[in-house]
Amino acid sequence: MNRRRRIYEGKAKILYEGPEPGTLIQHFKDDATAFNNKKHDIIDGKGVLNNRISEFVFEHLNRLGVPTHFIRRVNMREQLVREVEIVPLEVIVRNVAAGSLCTRLGLEEGTQLPRSIIEFCYKKDELGDPLVAEEHITAFGWANPQELDDIMALTIRINDFLSGMFAAVGIRLVDFKIEFGRLWEGDMMRIVLADEISPDSCRLWDMSTGDKMDKDRFRKDLGGMIEAYQEVARRLGILNESERPVTDGPRLVK
Ligand SMILES: Nc1ncnc2c1ncn2[C@@H]1O[C@H](COP(=O)(O)OP(=O)(O)O)[C@@H](O)[C@H]1O
Ligand SMILES: [Mg+2]
Repeated sequence: MNRRRRIYEGKAKILYEGPEPGTLIQHFKDDATAFNNKKHDIIDGKGVLNNRISEFVFEHLNRLGVPTHFIRRVNMREQLVREVEIVPLEVIVRNVAAGSLCTRLGLEEGTQLPRSIIEFCYKKDELGDPLVAEEHITAFGWANPQELDDIMALTIRINDFLSGMFAAVGIRLVDFKIEFGRLWEGDMMRIVLADEISPDSCRLWDMSTGDKMDKDRFRKDLGGMIEAYQEVARRLGILNESERPVTDGPRLVK
């Protein structure tokens, strides 16, 4: 089946050559990884859910005028996107203290931050994606000051949109990671949102119970990862009633 050219295989996705120049097919795998690939498992159905959730988010952002690489979903696991030159940064937005921020600054998990904080990590698996400052980014030329400005402005809009979208369905957006790329149109270049936004790349807590509905279920061996991702999709109205959850076996119909 996969006769097309594979451009890149990452931890959670595969990129194939797209049907037209300048496009790619982004394929969502079921692989779950954490701690820079030290922990790995296959979670049946995760790729399907992330494809749908990411489609939902990117479509809304496109409609709001936040430029993204997303063109359309093509099947259960794949979407057509514009090929971009990825800016080698993981842009992290934090609204509530969790994860490495707690370790680094001695904060208690769940502490509301005085304001949203944007952090940058240099995207380099061999180095474990180290935290870097704007100074490093511009000094080493990973992005120029104008690009960094665009990235920050888009990031703030994305955080506002996502926080509201999740709050409306009883989910607290604790933090998330995004990636940007350079998209050329003729000799004009634009910074656009690329990669994915899914429970793999966000921390999502149920507002009433505090339950984790994201990849921390895998990192912390809490179980119920697929059920949590399904619940996120269901609340966003992505999985409609007629659609059976992906991993369910036969069920007795009364
Ligand atoms: N539109 C795009 N054009 C080119 N590369 C992209 C695009 N969107 C995402 N990517 C890159 O494709 C890869 C997606 O696969 P993933 O499994 O997330 O890889 P990784 O293990 O590097 O995180 C990432 O490296 C990401 O930066
Ligand atoms: Mg990735």
